[in-house]
Amino acid sequence: MNSHSNLRGVFFDEEAFQALESLFSKKSYSKVILLCDANTHEHCLPPFLANAPFIGDSNLEILELEPGEETKSIEILAQVWDAFGALEMDRKSILINIGGGVITDLGGFAAATYMRGIDFVNFPSSLLAMVDASVGSKTGINFGGFKNRIGLFSDPQLVGIIPDFLKTLAPEELKSGWAEMLKHGLIADDAHFQELVNRAYKAEAFDAGIIKRSISIKAAVVNQDKYEGGLRKILNFGHTIGHALESYYHQAGQPISHGYAVGLGMIVELGLSVDYADLDAAKASAIQLQLRSEFSFPPLKIEKETFLNLVIGDKKNSAGQLQFSLLADAGKAVFDKQIALESIWPYMEREGL
Ligand SMILES: NC(=O)c1ccc[n+]([C@@H]2O[C@H](COP(=O)([O-])OP(=O)(O)OC[C@H]3O[C@@H](n4cnc5c(N)ncnc54)[C@H](O)[C@@H]3O)[C@@H](O)[C@H]2O)c1
Repeated sequence: MNSHSNLRGVFFDEEAFQALESLFSKKSYSKVILLCDANTHEHCLPPFLANAPFIGDSNLEILELEPGEETKSIEILAQVWDAFGALEMDRKSILINIGGGVITDLGGFAAATYMRGIDFVNFPSSLLAMVDASVGSKTGINFGGFKNRIGLFSDPQLVGIIPDFLKTLAPEELKSGWAEMLKHGLIADDAHFQELVNRAYKAEAFDAGIIKRSISIKAAVVNQDKYEGGLRKILNFGHTIGHALESYYHQAGQPISHGYAVGLGMIVELGLSVDYADLDAAKASAIQLQLRSEFSFPPLKIEKETFLNLVIGDKKNSAGQLQFSLLADAGKAVFDKQIALESIWPYMEREGL
């Protein structure tokens, strides 16, 4: 796979502001709304506005939401649509999303549905939003207790990546994005994985170069399979077990971040990869060792039945069958590997769970 293919519409640092300026001069927007949460309002808006004087203040409005996953709800979405109306946004308005995946997912969906779709641009501010949510066209909200249940595919006019935004991101949030980057390396580019494990995950380690490389891997996948008919499923490596762990620890009152759960999920799924995808056992052990030094299972006994019910409830599994995306090699993933539910428990036990 050519991991450096097509990053059309994604710009870094000064080029992001140049691209935004050229969009503004082409479109003469009637109204500009900036959507952020309290954290990105404080940390990202000032540098953003300082670099985008061409927006002006005359038709600029700022909408600030509460930080957190609960914001990705139908109630908050309705408030955002209401605000669009109250601010007299019309079809020639633009929404600028500055935030993590919550803001870019919700803002993208709000813009794509308001008046049958207005322009929006994303300036992702968390590492996860930069390397994962920034490409792939998915927008949406959580609904009825399910993540991302309501949404649609819609592309921003452009994505601006400002690595400096990461300087104020909490270390656990940085690690969450780092886990998804490791996953990109493992499924498609072993050299990227090795480069990442050789770097400490502090904000300065994430420069435009390494972020671009990680996004390119995801872009190369989604450009071939936007609607997840096949290949895009490889991005789910680590996620079947990871999602179940995320829910389990959440329900147990010991929440871990999404990316951290994916890190743990990859450790377990590497074991499955040996038996179900012919991954070399020594290679699997070596990668597991690298991952275990960064992601450790919380000290909590996992109850088998409850956990397996969470795994089977995962949306990627159809007709009671577990469908896994696994590794056939370091840097090569395969998808649609069917595994019986009971068969996965020994791989959890191996991790002392
Ligand atoms: N659309 C997609 O393809 C896609 C892909 C992956 C994840 N997602 C979605 O993204 C969401 C998770 O994204 P996330 O981890 O960015 O969550 P998030 O948006 O909740 O951000 C995490 C936390 O970091 C804070 N934050 C963000 N940027 C900051 C900065 N620069 N400085 C200080 N604080 C900052 C936020 O306020 C928040 O408290 C989930 O809802 C997930 O479903 C979407």
